[in-house]
Amino acid sequence: MKVILVFTLKYILPLLALAALVTWMARRWHVWFGNYPEQPYSALARPGRIMLTFGDELESSRNVSWQCDSVLRPSMVQTVCLADSDTVCTEAVGEVFASRRGRVAYYVARLRHLEANREYAYRVVTDTMASPWYHFQTYGEGRSRFSFLYVGDVQDTLCGQANRFLRQALRHHPASEFVVCGGDLTERPTDQHWAQTYRDVDSVAQAMPLLCVTGNHDYLKGLVRRLERRFPLIFSYFLDSAVDDNMVYTLNYGPVQFFLLDSNRELPYLLRQRSWLEQELSQSRAKWKILVLHHPLYSIKGRNNLIQRWVFDGVVRRYGVDLVLQGHEHAYARMTMHNKESGQPVTPVYTVSHCSPKNYRIAFNRRFDRFGISSRYYQTVEVSQDTLVLAAYEVYGHTLYDSLRIVKPDRGVAHIDDLGRDIPEYLEYTPNPHKRKDLNFARRIQAYKKRRAVGQ
Ligand SMILES: [Fe+2]
Repeated sequence: MKVILVFTLKYILPLLALAALVTWMARRWHVWFGNYPEQPYSALARPGRIMLTFGDELESSRNVSWQCDSVLRPSMVQTVCLADSDTVCTEAVGEVFASRRGRVAYYVARLRHLEANREYAYRVVTDTMASPWYHFQTYGEGRSRFSFLYVGDVQDTLCGQANRFLRQALRHHPASEFVVCGGDLTERPTDQHWAQTYRDVDSVAQAMPLLCVTGNHDYLKGLVRRLERRFPLIFSYFLDSAVDDNMVYTLNYGPVQFFLLDSNRELPYLLRQRSWLEQELSQSRAKWKILVLHHPLYSIKGRNNLIQRWVFDGVVRRYGVDLVLQGHEHAYARMTMHNKESGQPVTPVYTVSHCSPKNYRIAFNRRFDRFGISSRYYQTVEVSQDTLVLAAYEVYGHTLYDSLRIVKPDRGVAHIDDLGRDIPEYLEYTPNPHKRKDLNFARRIQAYKKRRAVGQ
């Protein structure tokens, strides 16, 4: 009997454990390392997929990127300052990008001659082929008042609805001067999904700058993840701002300085980004500092992203970042820090948002002020003198879902007004009765509702 017991402990149990581990790894292998296949595709015959972004650290800069054919040809952007100017030609730099199932020539033109407070017409030209004319606006530098729109993950399905949501959001908030995305704008790094992304931002990304950080869906999975070159060729400010292959970027816009990080990288890269962030923050003279990254520093799904928090959060708090805009976890959440003595809310304010068809099951951590599930959201950020107002809207009906005002006078104490306190949280959820995870989530929602009802 003793021999059997020893044999079991020594050989059978480790073998069973090993078999269970191998089975689990085989099941997870594709999730960790597999990539969505890319279908063969041909390059556009004429200039298309035009994207307007910022260029350098200054708000008057613009970059324009586009695609045409699969070989390089002389290319430029023609701009006309309306209504009284000649056409200015800006030469573009081309680069052929080969993905898994096709190749295409990308072009980037850097517009650095723009005047403030003007309307410009522009078109892109490759060889003898020109795009239609588009228009964008520049604004006065050094203003203390402006607003922009923020969306978290979009990850639209093929033939999805994001373009309608985005255009409606801008119709409801016409003062928005540009759009910021917290990563995963595209569902997969394939030409087909990028085609969908261009449909999603059509008529928007030609008319106002689109600023985007990298998300995990932008990476090709493998033993070492790899960001395709097409990402910085599209969001072309990264071509000049990347630090040692890290997609980081900073922009000064009115009284705000933006800091964009790539939270998808391995630890050594994150540490390099922290050095960059610390240096930029320590030199910043901006009244407001906004950080944009994909992974929430405080996860709403449990204990995720601890490495990103360990790397970045100390710097974020030490250098007075006011607002952290995040995505990735496919729900809405807002969190403020609290003064240890008074209990009053203080910056930084952390928000998680998404505008995608997918909703995740969250953990309802007590750190957060409020949540939203089973919906899609966008946010507006309005900066005006000493105040920054953050508002979240549901895309269905564009109803106000959350709002918060940070007041930061030049002299005196900063404070936060919670303007969303009385807006009911949307917590409707229909579980699949055959899925244990769904049923557990439904129970968590009930527990959270009870907790809120008793004011905890
Ligand atoms: Fe993500």
